[in-house]
Amino acid sequence: MVSCLAAGSVEPPLGVEPLLGVEAVVLVGGLGTRMRPLTLSAPKPMLPTAGVPFLTHLLGRIRAAGVRHVVLGTSYRAEVFATHFGNGAALGLKLDYVVEEQPLGTGGGIRNVASALTEPDVLVFNGDVLSGLDPAEVMRTHRKAGADVTLHLVRVPDPRAFGCVPTTADGQVLGFLEKTDDPPTDLINAGCYAFRREVIDSIPEGRAVSVERETFPGLLAAGAQVHAHVDSSYWLDLGTPAAYVQGSADLVRGLAPSPALPGPVGEALLLPGASVHPDARVGGGSVVGAGTVVQRGAQVLGSVLMDRAQVGPGAHVQRSVLGVGAHVGAGAVLHDAVVGDGAVVGARCELLNGLRVWPGVVLPDNGVRFSADV
Ligand code: GTP
Repeated sequence: MVSCLAAGSVEPPLGVEPLLGVEAVVLVGGLGTRMRPLTLSAPKPMLPTAGVPFLTHLLGRIRAAGVRHVVLGTSYRAEVFATHFGNGAALGLKLDYVVEEQPLGTGGGIRNVASALTEPDVLVFNGDVLSGLDPAEVMRTHRKAGADVTLHLVRVPDPRAFGCVPTTADGQVLGFLEKTDDPPTDLINAGCYAFRREVIDSIPEGRAVSVERETFPGLLAAGAQVHAHVDSSYWLDLGTPAAYVQGSADLVRGLAPSPALPGPVGEALLLPGASVHPDARVGGGSVVGAGTVVQRGAQVLGSVLMDRAQVGPGAHVQRSVLGVGAHVGAGAVLHDAVVGDGAVVGARCELLNGLRVWPGVVLPDNGVRFSADV
């Protein structure tokens, strides 16, 4: 049983009040190593997510906040971004691209785009965060506080896995703490910042700089005003394959809001030319890519099937990613697995627990099992 939505084109949002004096920077130059092998063929922000490259969702949110000019700080696979988004007109944006020959880190990446910026206030985004935040709210908090930098902070259930950011009751940031077993707060850096333009100019040029480790602590030490914008809307850092499949499924099901979702929300998104056998089950927010075939009796739940992939009869694919042209044989079981572009998983193979198959690798029938009973 398939409940699906058909993918269409992304309409630029109309009638949004411009956010005057503000432009945006999106950092998209990272190598995305934790997401390999998917990021061998595409930079992480360009991975297809609910029918469009992930970055389309973020750019849609930026546009919906009234920002018109966005500079992409690129490095790894820099050409891919301009080829896809061009001058940004299709999204109602003016897009510029600045390339780092060597990745300069988050702070170095922000400094490197300074020459492309013209407004007094700048919103900076990590290019791999899925969130329900209205960026205009961060700018409002920033301006009201008269801050040098304002950070979007979110509360997480287990802050031990992150560096945390303690604040005063009225929102002044007190420090940037490394991961610890006993964090004093559950607030963490959510990867969106409002900067006064002069602060960007003060970041050292031409070398790697981390905003989290160097720029923000340095600003605090120098007595600058670093403020917090705490928000409790949806937030997910799409840094790992598990987070990527979760984010994609949340978008498809409407749990994560996006102005760029190409159609109504539902249990599955079937892209044009996808084919699902009537006796197959596709759900849990799965995406079935263009030209991808799901055969009789197969079950696909909470997964991303990229274009031209195949899921054989009776196969089970759960919380997993199939790269472009990947094949999964009859009766194979994939839970929390990643199959690279063009790889073949033979019939009755069993791939569990985050296992990754590199592009083009061919696993023979029964070739990789987790359990003993073939
Ligand atoms: P990992 O290698 O798996 O840690 O991923 P990553 O390289 O994407 O690093 P991370 O997730 O920490 O990056 C957060 C955001 O900053 C992502 O959108 C990256 O594309 C971006 N980013 C990270 N490093 C750089 C850099 O050196 N230059 C630029 N321009 N962007 C970067």
